[in-house]
Amino acid sequence: MKAAVTAHGKYTISDIDPRLYGSFIEHLGRAVYTGIYEPEHATADENGMRKDVIDLVRELNVPIVRYPGGNFVSAYNWEDGIGPKESRPTRLDLAWHTSESNQVGIHEFADWCVSANTEMMLAVNLGSRGLDEARNFLEYVNHPGGSEWSDKRIANGRAKPWNVKLWCLGNEMDGPWQIGHKTADEYGRLAHETAKAMRAFDNGLELVVCGSSNAHMPTYPEWEATVLDHTYNEVDYISLHMYFENRAKNTANYLARSLELDRYIGTVAGVIDYVKAKKRSAKDVYISFDEWNVWYHSKERDKATLAGANGWPHAPALLEDDYNFEDVLQVGCILNTFINRADVVKIACLAQLVNVIAPIMTTPGGAAWRQTIFYPYYFASVYGRGTALRLMVDSPTYKVDELGEVPYLDVSAVHDADAGALTFFIVNRHGTEALDLDVSLLEFGTLKVIDDQVIAHPDLTITNTAEAPFNVAPVRATDAVVADGRLSAKIAPLSYRVIRLQA
Ligand code: AHR
Repeated sequence: MKAAVTAHGKYTISDIDPRLYGSFIEHLGRAVYTGIYEPEHATADENGMRKDVIDLVRELNVPIVRYPGGNFVSAYNWEDGIGPKESRPTRLDLAWHTSESNQVGIHEFADWCVSANTEMMLAVNLGSRGLDEARNFLEYVNHPGGSEWSDKRIANGRAKPWNVKLWCLGNEMDGPWQIGHKTADEYGRLAHETAKAMRAFDNGLELVVCGSSNAHMPTYPEWEATVLDHTYNEVDYISLHMYFENRAKNTANYLARSLELDRYIGTVAGVIDYVKAKKRSAKDVYISFDEWNVWYHSKERDKATLAGANGWPHAPALLEDDYNFEDVLQVGCILNTFINRADVVKIACLAQLVNVIAPIMTTPGGAAWRQTIFYPYYFASVYGRGTALRLMVDSPTYKVDELGEVPYLDVSAVHDADAGALTFFIVNRHGTEALDLDVSLLEFGTLKVIDDQVIAHPDLTITNTAEAPFNVAPVRATDAVVADGRLSAKIAPLSYRVIRLQA
């Protein structure tokens, strides 16, 4: 099987916002407690944060982390997480049927972000609460001092404001499961007024309004049109979420679902354009794809806890998907889609970061290790910074109901002009045949291969575990060559590949 690609140094999609490689920590399951925070752990720092986890997060070079939810935020009182730890209340978390000890709050998370070399993306509660709490939280986080809430922050040990720029106006407000779920008009009005108040404090904030929880919601895409009609001039991003599953155990169909993601992005980009035209606005709104991942391996296991059969446990194991090799390919295709849509998707958050549907897993009191999906996320985050190239791709295809022709070759390319580096991210969706890849390289000067990594495994279901953490890991490939302005490589069936070129 052959596939041909043309890459031209001047044919570009967009500069990539580094926040395309963001992630997410929610007060859910063991993401916070025994995930990032475990004061009794041998590697814990002076704040009780696990250094082994911090090291892995730093390795991923995560630019932003969304916090504190997720569904959790829609009944969260941010004030519960400030002040002396011993006087913080334990609350029932209605979203996940658990108890929340509030031992980690905004101060602890902010300090962790510094240690993990990342920035905060904060969400306000527009479910059980509203404008007033949002503006108080903003004042607490960003005002230098001399007001009630900023002075409380100072009294709680943080003199300087954190100056968080990026704020989510609630979470998945279209979802009937959400505490404080609203209609598009109800939410649109509330989001508009909240955004107005937040902008009255600081017009330089970047605000994210809730779009659809997925493209199968009955209100999609009318939700986006209505919500943006209310908020267009006050917000910068509309958020989308999508999770992927392969319960049918059909690899070909599963790996085709990134085409559905691409359509979802295209449709919402169209709605944004429609509202922009309707409002005669000169301003742009972009997409913040602030929850995405594979999520299905743990669903059966979680049913009892989520139904309340285990009472109100604190930090139980929830949403602990054990990712397999097949998921590496899926995550590779998803990331390629974001890179190829970098003109409209500016922010994306892998949901989530530690233990909960996460690339990083921990054992309480034990090791932290990389799940299989750690690797495609790592490669994209570390090497996917620069300009997304508009590739011309000629690949053989296969048919999938509802999606049509699906190319076997899934590819994106990022040009880092400063470093003179060109990186290709490649997935071969074919189950048995290798792809002979031929790439014409135009207007890049002379390039040579500086790195070539492959992830492949004969068993699609193999996972990484605490005992065997490197079952699935990248290895150096050797067959990519550049000659006479062409890159050629043999892409093994069902493999993920990263090829890096430089002068
Ligand atoms: O990431 C897990 C959950 O998925 C989030 O809390 C929610 O926003 C989404 O439904």
